[in-house]
Amino acid sequence: MLSNSKILPVLLALWTGVITACFFSLYTDISQLYILGATVIVFVLTYLLYYLVFEHLIFTEIHKLYTLLTKVKKKDYELTKGELVKVEDPLSRLHEEIVDFASRKEQEITELKKLETFRREFLADVSHELKTPIFAAQGFIHTLIDGAIEDEGVRDKFLTKAANNLDSLNVLVEDLLTISQLEIGEIKMQCQNFDIHRLAEDIFEQLEETAGRRGVKLRFHKHTPRSCYIYADKYRIGQVLTNLIVNGIKYGKERGNITVSFNYQNDYVFVSVQDDGPGIESRHLNRIFERFYRVEKSRSKDKGGTGLGLAIVKHILEAHDSKIYVSSIMGEGTIFSFKLRKGKVINEKG
Ligand SMILES: Nc1ncnc2c1ncn2[C@@H]1O[C@H](COP(=O)(O)OP(=O)(O)O)[C@@H](O)[C@H]1O
Ligand SMILES: [Mg+2]
Repeated sequence: MLSNSKILPVLLALWTGVITACFFSLYTDISQLYILGATVIVFVLTYLLYYLVFEHLIFTEIHKLYTLLTKVKKKDYELTKGELVKVEDPLSRLHEEIVDFASRKEQEITELKKLETFRREFLADVSHELKTPIFAAQGFIHTLIDGAIEDEGVRDKFLTKAANNLDSLNVLVEDLLTISQLEIGEIKMQCQNFDIHRLAEDIFEQLEETAGRRGVKLRFHKHTPRSCYIYADKYRIGQVLTNLIVNGIKYGKERGNITVSFNYQNDYVFVSVQDDGPGIESRHLNRIFERFYRVEKSRSKDKGGTGLGLAIVKHILEAHDSKIYVSSIMGEGTIFSFKLRKGKVINEKG
């Protein structure tokens, strides 16, 4: 590179020497020897001059700047003397450092802007979600206070409606708490060896009535082993399965089927929950794990969803170093799957 403290002065001195030689050669009465002598003297003197200027004024200052910039990048602002890093080509290094520094800052700013937008949207979403049940319960109670309480039929109906809305509010706040605790890592996974088949059987039993109301059948895939041990947090994996199965019941078709399957593969167990419902359009597939994202806003709300279920599922699986996958075919159904670490078989009583 030309920007070196030795090469640049040589080139500049050569250039000055050539100009001097050309100038003197215009005078025919000056001998060749004189011209050569004058050129050499001009070359040496200008080389020394340029060298001193470059080395001590420009390059040393650039060295200082470069070192300072390196320290700023490392967030160490104390510049001590005699600590300069010697680099071969400070100008281009300085250029690289500045470009690198600027692009990193740019990335940080973009990240911060994204977080800020996310925070603002989240706050707006939470307020909106909280407002709906509070507003409804408030309406029923005020109507009662304003006189509707006298009519026994209306009183019971309105009280039940107010209570239902407060129940929804409770579920929403609990989901919000879970999600924020999972996000800040406050909830640690309490891993143990357990039979996930047995856990799913218990969940089937708990959801029998809910599924029955829509005529939905809950079953295991025919090739699923009768017991399947995994090493995970039993309570949290129970939450994951419940969320996925409840979604299948709510958004799947009436009198449909929900099939749960487990498969051993090397050190892992692959779990899937499949329904034969209407499916999810591909443009929504990436987004359904976002908080409050619903495919059909009003229909999902009517079904009592908080819109946080899949976000919680995603967080729980991430805390198990795993990931949730979804694939869906319109009109055929949806399948959610994930893998968990295989566990040791233990003898459980009862
Ligand atoms: N098995 C499914 N079939 C069709 N749509 C689904 C299914 N599971 C989830 N969804 C869609 O994804 C959205 C997000 O799900 P989720 O986070 O569990 O929220 P919700 O509280 O509404 O159930 C739902 O509102 C629904 O639109
Ligand atoms: Mg749900």
